Amino acid sequence: MKLFKVIASTLALCAVFSVQARSLDDIKKGGKIIVATEGQFAPFNYFKGTTLTGFEVEVAELVAKKMGLKIEWKTIGFDALLTGLKQDRWDLVIASHGVTEERAKAVTFTEPHYCSGGMVISMDPAIRSAKDLAGKIVAVQTGTSYLENVQKVTTIKEMKNFPTDVDARSALTSHRVDAWVTDRFVAKEVVAKNPKAGLKLGEMVFIERIASAVAKGNQPLADAWSKALAETMADGSYTAVSKKYFNEDVRCN
Ligand code: ARG
Repeated sequence: MKLFKVIASTLALCAVFSVQARSLDDIKKGGKIIVATEGQFAPFNYFKGTTLTGFEVEVAELVAKKMGLKIEWKTIGFDALLTGLKQDRWDLVIASHGVTEERAKAVTFTEPHYCSGGMVISMDPAIRSAKDLAGKIVAVQTGTSYLENVQKVTTIKEMKNFPTDVDARSALTSHRVDAWVTDRFVAKEVVAKNPKAGLKLGEMVFIERIASAVAKGNQPLADAWSKALAETMADGSYTAVSKKYFNEDVRCN
């Protein structure tokens, strides 16, 4: 009896801790894929009024359509996105994640949907390159690849982390930090849209490949997504969306 109880509770514990990611077949059967993003990273994923939109949102819609699926969107803080895959709260994340070795230990990446990198922005024209960040206070969004990459190239005075990239930007415009490091396309758009804000585009600190992620080991889903993405890149639909947002094709080459 005692042994039975031990076995029963062990099994129950296993059930709690080994949540299985939904398989590609399960997703196809239901006709719907649950995709999570942040919704605060324009022009990639953001809200226009109450509508979620952006380059990544539109690309994901194209890809899902090729797979014969509808998307159920979830939006949540950047920090929670990749961990939610492990807990099987959603099937896929698309939120401008750079493919890093560290992240690849925890999730499985698809093929990249664009290439970009971190760029320096400042109100001070003398702060332009990674080396100019030495001894300075730099703002980045928490959990992003910008932190480690800035630390790799220079010795800054202090790194200030913010829950959203928008908060990191505000820290710069209100002179609480000397520089902000963010995605190069985010930076370009912010500068273009706020010509009077006194923001200066600096140089790129590093480059990265940006991809979607699925639960670690859910290779069939990652492969199906990558294949459908390649189809959108081949039939012109990806290019059309890319040109609409950036006036250029941002795929990795
Ligand atoms: N590309 C950077 C990274 O990999 C930033 C991503 C930020 N994404 C977002 N939705 N705020 O960490």
